[in-house]
Amino acid sequence: MKILKIIFIIIGIIVLIALAVVGYVNYFLPNIAVKDVQVEVTHERVERGEYLANHVMVCMDCHSQRDWSLFSGPITAGTLGAGGDKFTHEMGFPGTFYAPNITPANLASWSDGEIYRAITSGVNRNEAPLFPVMPYHSYSHADQEDVYSVIAYLRTLKSVENEVPLSDPDFPMSIIMHLMPAEAQPMERPREEDQIAYGNYLATISACADCHSPFEKGQPVEGMGYAGGREFEMPWGTLRAPNLTPDTATGIGAWTEQMWLNRFAVYDSIHKLTPISDPHQFNSLMPWHMYAQMSADDLKAIHAYLHSLKPIPNEVERVTHRTTDMHQ
Ligand code: HEC
Ligand code: HEC
Repeated sequence: MKILKIIFIIIGIIVLIALAVVGYVNYFLPNIAVKDVQVEVTHERVERGEYLANHVMVCMDCHSQRDWSLFSGPITAGTLGAGGDKFTHEMGFPGTFYAPNITPANLASWSDGEIYRAITSGVNRNEAPLFPVMPYHSYSHADQEDVYSVIAYLRTLKSVENEVPLSDPDFPMSIIMHLMPAEAQPMERPREEDQIAYGNYLATISACADCHSPFEKGQPVEGMGYAGGREFEMPWGTLRAPNLTPDTATGIGAWTEQMWLNRFAVYDSIHKLTPISDPHQFNSLMPWHMYAQMSADDLKAIHAYLHSLKPIPNEVERVTHRTTDMHQ
């Protein structure tokens, strides 16, 4: 009897400690201070911010509605920043996550510091953690001035009233998420002449590696950065991001700078995007139309940076079409 009593007391203590830890994580984390900053909206910042948000960091890729009847899903007119992308269980996410409205209709009451924290640390205005489908761990490294430019640009967006549902993470992700936000670790934007460092900066804040690295159980595989292989379930089958390391056989080792530029330039106008009449026809998740308007110098810098990486042989089968009988 005595032993049983002791066992019960020990179990009780363990349960209490576990509850205390979960309670602490849930109620006291994330604990990231709001930056005390006032972003002056200048013409230069708005212009730079528009470029970054639409063609480099591609905020608008997720925070707008997309027209999937054209290749690579350009933005549906009138929805710029109004929110809408949905990330679901079917796509492999631990819950349902919605990209909120980031036009002034939602953000007007947020301070600049609160927007800065959401972008670079993944914490919203209510101190709640954001799920890293939004690549805030990459944005964390953006130069403060670049983030200020994005904020200045967001302030000038046309306000669009659009109520987006709240995200609904599964348990236990709903608790684990509280441990994900982290203090911003801003880099200084390297000089353009320093091409490889500058290319690294651009590739980092574009989060190319988020899609172009293999993931296992929702985590990037160590040592395989940019080696491709991340899978995306599409209506027509499985799409895998290719290897962007300079391996000649399986990556971009044989690509000249001109080939690289051409690969993007084909999509630089909406009129060049192929119509997709049937959702079971191949379409790409890579926002080609957005990156196609990155400046040639910036694209060249990313190319130079990728070519400076260690080649990783990794054969990626880019496309597996679902056969018709699997459909039935
Ligand atoms: C890959 C998709 C994706 C990209 C790219 C992205 N976001 Fe997000 N963002 C999201 C999702 C999804 C959420 C909501 C996450 C959640 O609820 O856990 C979010 C949340 C936010 C929030 C919080 C809004 C609120 O009401 O809570 C802000 C602000 C924001 N994003 C701004 C940006 C900016 C600025 C950029 C570009 C620098 C950006 N996002 C890029 C997907 C994205
Ligand atoms: C949302 C996920 C996603 C993001 C972000 C992304 N890519 Fe991709 N990318 C893909 C997928 C999927 C493919 C394969 C389908 C295709 O070719 O359209 C691809 C294809 C490519 C290709 C073609 C390679 C080949 O062998 O033909 C290049 C080049 C490329 N991406 C470069 C980049 C660069 C540079 C960035 C960052 C600036 C980037 N991608 C960001 C998903 C992504």
